[in-house]
Amino acid sequence: ASRSFSQSVAMNRAIKNVTVVGSGLMGAGIAQVAAQTGHNVILVDNNKLALEKAQHRIQTSIERVAKKRYADDAESSAKFISGALGHLKTTTDALESVAEADLVVEAIVEDLKIKQNLFTQLDQAAPEHTLFASNTSCLRVSDIAKVTKRLDRFGGLHFFNPVPVMKLLEVVRIPETSQSSFESMFAWGQAMKKVTVECKDTPGFIVNRLLIPMGLESLRMIERGDASPRDVDLAMKLGAGFPMGPFELIDYTGIDLAKFVHTALHAEFPDDPLFEPTQIIDTMIDEGKLGMKNGEGFYKYNKS
Ligand code: 3HC
Repeated sequence: ASRSFSQSVAMNRAIKNVTVVGSGLMGAGIAQVAAQTGHNVILVDNNKLALEKAQHRIQTSIERVAKKRYADDAESSAKFISGALGHLKTTTDALESVAEADLVVEAIVEDLKIKQNLFTQLDQAAPEHTLFASNTSCLRVSDIAKVTKRLDRFGGLHFFNPVPVMKLLEVVRIPETSQSSFESMFAWGQAMKKVTVECKDTPGFIVNRLLIPMGLESLRMIERGDASPRDVDLAMKLGAGFPMGPFELIDYTGIDLAKFVHTALHAEFPDDPLFEPTQIIDTMIDEGKLGMKNGEGFYKYNKS
């Protein structure tokens, strides 16, 4: 029991082969960072078109990272890009993709049944030692994990958008997660060059548990007519040091995603006024305003 953290990590199997399931914004970002940090990555999606889009997004993002890191060094920049892309494969075959995985990170749609169905299948296909993790932002990791026979090798790895830029990784344990699985995931987060924090499997973990009530109160503020979105954003950027105001952030991540997360947290805390959903989000969805991705949310954007 007295062995040190670093000793016990050395005793655990190092995570080298990583399968990321789901090639949306988060999955693509996680796969990109894993490839950039030298892991052998397989990115899986059952939709071929989604995989093509993800490859395009990864290419653009890696170029931005390289530009920032190697501004005046074209040779190192090209080496970094080709090195990272060389570590990344894509496939539509989820079962085959886990055959040699040390870690599977799931970042598919936030639907409990679909996630459970995926993990039931992966549990049978993956080797004994493979660790499973979900990037869920508002479901209980325990509810996802319970369909598998590897609860001791299951945890949450919650990244932030945009994954290549945001430095934080929340490492979440369920009551059954073994100490060695937890330490492996924690060490992997550091190998991904993220700063890791530890959290229990509570709704919203650390960041969303605090960020979402603030976002909801910003929405109520404009519903009451107390202030405009632009002024709330300016106030929080200049008065509280936020990189983006709450409305810029909701537009950036998507109005539809906000609705989804609000609904899920309200279901977890039905009596808590902090998580009471707002009308304005429903109205915007009815009007087809989904945020930056389709040209209009609280602000208007140039469609690219
Ligand atoms: N890939 C690679 N590099 C990127 C990037 C990406 N997708 N996005 C930004 N960058 C880097 C680039 O180097 C960029 O420089 P460039 O424009 O010359 O390429 C640099 O960051 C600066 O970016 P921008 O000029 O576009 O703008 P900012 O300085 O405002 O930074 C931001 C953008 C990092 C998104 C910053 O505004 C920010 O931190 N916003 C808050 C984001 C946040 O709160 N995220 C958490 C959301 S909650 C969540 O994710 C939880 C989940 O459950 C949904």
